[in-house]
Amino acid sequence: MKTYTDGFFSVNSSNGFLPLHEPLQTLPTKYFELQFLLDNMPICKEDGSPGYLAINGEIEKATNQLPNFYEEVKEEKDPFVKAALFRAYSFLTSAYTLSPSYQFFKKTGDYGLGNKIIPKNIAQPFVKISEMLEVSPWLDYHYAYSLGNYRKKNSSKGLEWTNLSMAVKFSGLKDEEGFIMLHVDINQYSPDLVKAALDLSENNSDPNPSLLLLGETLKKMNERRKLMWEASRWKNYNDFRIFIMGSKGNTKIFPDGNIYEGVWETPQSFRGQTGAQDNIIPTADIISGVINYYPKNQLTDYLLDLRNYRPKCIQAFFSDISEKMSHSPLLDRLVSNENFSGMLLLMKVYEEIYLFRNGHWQFVQKYIMQNTSYPVATGGTPITSWIPNQIKAVLSAMKMLFDKMDKYSEENWNKKELMASYDNKVTLLNKQLKIVSIEAFNPEEVFILNEKLGFKDF
Ligand code: HEM
Repeated sequence: MKTYTDGFFSVNSSNGFLPLHEPLQTLPTKYFELQFLLDNMPICKEDGSPGYLAINGEIEKATNQLPNFYEEVKEEKDPFVKAALFRAYSFLTSAYTLSPSYQFFKKTGDYGLGNKIIPKNIAQPFVKISEMLEVSPWLDYHYAYSLGNYRKKNSSKGLEWTNLSMAVKFSGLKDEEGFIMLHVDINQYSPDLVKAALDLSENNSDPNPSLLLLGETLKKMNERRKLMWEASRWKNYNDFRIFIMGSKGNTKIFPDGNIYEGVWETPQSFRGQTGAQDNIIPTADIISGVINYYPKNQLTDYLLDLRNYRPKCIQAFFSDISEKMSHSPLLDRLVSNENFSGMLLLMKVYEEIYLFRNGHWQFVQKYIMQNTSYPVATGGTPITSWIPNQIKAVLSAMKMLFDKMDKYSEENWNKKELMASYDNKVTLLNKQLKIVSIEAFNPEEVFILNEKLGFKDF
């Protein structure tokens, strides 16, 4: 069987999308000065005292004194050391470039200009390590902020967010930790997701056990996702949000990209860290066929562009399962085999993808829209129109499946109930779209509506 690995990630039914083992917590001692800087960088340090990011201009001073580790970095072979170095330089680059915006935000509530120039002593080793990993030189979700950044507090316990802490941090406050460690927590079920995806893409004769596993896994993931409300309080999202921004699409902060001194003469722009780089929903979309209903517009292009902000082995996994599913779409298989129980299982998968996206939409309203008037996401996308775009795709897939199920006798399924629930979702979406079409809309209204129609997420 084909393997999807770079020595750090290995996408299979044992590791799912998580690294092969816990990421390194610190860099090898030869990078002492860099590790020292990272340890002293958070707004609130481990001992509670303020770090460089808390004080205007401090991170710039500390960075300028850092040795250039280019020669050491280029010799590294160990995948876990490479990932930790990428993480280190990503965090430092974001801290350095975005510190002025954060300071401005503290004073005015508005994001100010970031530092355009990334000094040579960090630009050169950062670009080198990103070339070695074949990713863009900017903070990402996989190696840097999320999956490659966790530590178990108690090694004999599991990957629940309460047992996880971040190796490198920006704010150092518990809302940042809860926010990003919950993403890792949700991924504790990714081995089963990958198992179901690989089985279904292999076109086995009976897809139902894998479809059942897919639906049940997504259900567990949704239950963990909902804990976001507790893991990270929405009012505190702005304490760290600025540091995960990218430069592509964020022209207010970086009007014309960043200069990587000593590397490129022209400015470069990359997308920021975002959950849109996570693999759960894209995998579910590809396998279930929701991806075939993505509308053809600029927002879908953004989503597909974000595929390139993933490790090469994960891109290869997506490309292989996409190709296999396009030759033999799941729904076609179920229809041609008159597999009605499989169709019901597929409907459950759609339901979980819908609940994930509708709950996630409520995150966006509360954590972002209620906190700031800045309408651009950290990944550099227009926020209010993005998520409904993909909710619509799930509803279209559901509709097509209903059409195929229609001929089956009502005794076999609770048709009326399922149709009513579908209609409810359509009404909810249309009403929400109406609310957010008003320029100065009140995000609270989105919540009231969700609660009224039975989709309260917390
Ligand atoms: C407070 C929590 C969260 C907030 C505020 C949030 C915010 C956002 C925003 C603004 C986008 C638009 C794209 C962009 O960043 O440019 C997005 C997209 C996305 N996010 Fe999140 N997110 C949160 C949690 C999560 C979690 C826990 C996951 C999964 C583990 C996730 C997965 C995704 C996916 C897959 C997309 C792409 C859109 C789609 O396919 O529906 N997000 N998120």
